[in-house]
Amino acid sequence: MRTINREMQIFENGEAVSRAAAELLVSLALEKLKSKDFIAVALSGGSTPKTMFAMLADDAALRDQMPWDRVHFFWGDERHVPPDHTDSNYRMANEAMLSKVSVPSGNIHRIQTENPDAGKIADDYEIELLDHFKLESGQLPTFDCVLLGMGPDGHTASLFPGTKALHERERLVVTNWVEKFQSHRITMTARLLNNADQIIFLVSGEEKADSLQVVLEGETQADLYPSQLIEPTHGKLLWLVDQAAAKQLKGK
Ligand code: 6PG
Repeated sequence: MRTINREMQIFENGEAVSRAAAELLVSLALEKLKSKDFIAVALSGGSTPKTMFAMLADDAALRDQMPWDRVHFFWGDERHVPPDHTDSNYRMANEAMLSKVSVPSGNIHRIQTENPDAGKIADDYEIELLDHFKLESGQLPTFDCVLLGMGPDGHTASLFPGTKALHERERLVVTNWVEKFQSHRITMTARLLNNADQIIFLVSGEEKADSLQVVLEGETQADLYPSQLIEPTHGKLLWLVDQAAAKQLKGK
């Protein structure tokens, strides 16, 4: 059993997970913005985050509370497709949320995936991060909040089982070849993600139950279950999980 400092909340279904995450992000933003001018949030791809984003934009109570002009949005990972492609995580977040709310375009920091050179995309995004956080090369940004999904294979962001990016200890963002998709992904590294103040996993669906049990309760085998790499250095880790995904957990 891994003993990292984390909290887990179990909800009836994916919709309830999304709602809890949306409410939490609004309250986290309001709290943090009492003592700073802007916050930085890293968004995820995936179906549960998509529902969360739509709630933030479509539910007037949530939308009107969120100080959109004081939130900077980044992406934890991207697919190597243009931003208008149906696989684009930017397109998903834009359609579900960003295009519907009053967020200044300068607050939207998408990964520039139209560049055919995947390595250059990762290099450029690192520079964008260092610029935004006003850091020197080698320093580590601190996100106020990182949202993550988890795939049935235990991957998170684009940290897939058996891939090179899992072993990256220096970089903030890397390109990661994923054999099963025969394509590159661009992903923040565990080193960067783990430096966040708050990390929230959104996990729903029975197809994730076996992996979730191993990730949370099994031996450490991060090469097979990369979500185990997520262990915040100083921040909080919260798992928002639905009953179907939590089905195999023994220590609920
Ligand atoms: C991506 C994601 C990825 C995703 C998980 C879970 O770009 O694919 O960022 O890590 O969050 O695959 O996705 P679902 O919530 O759709 O299962």
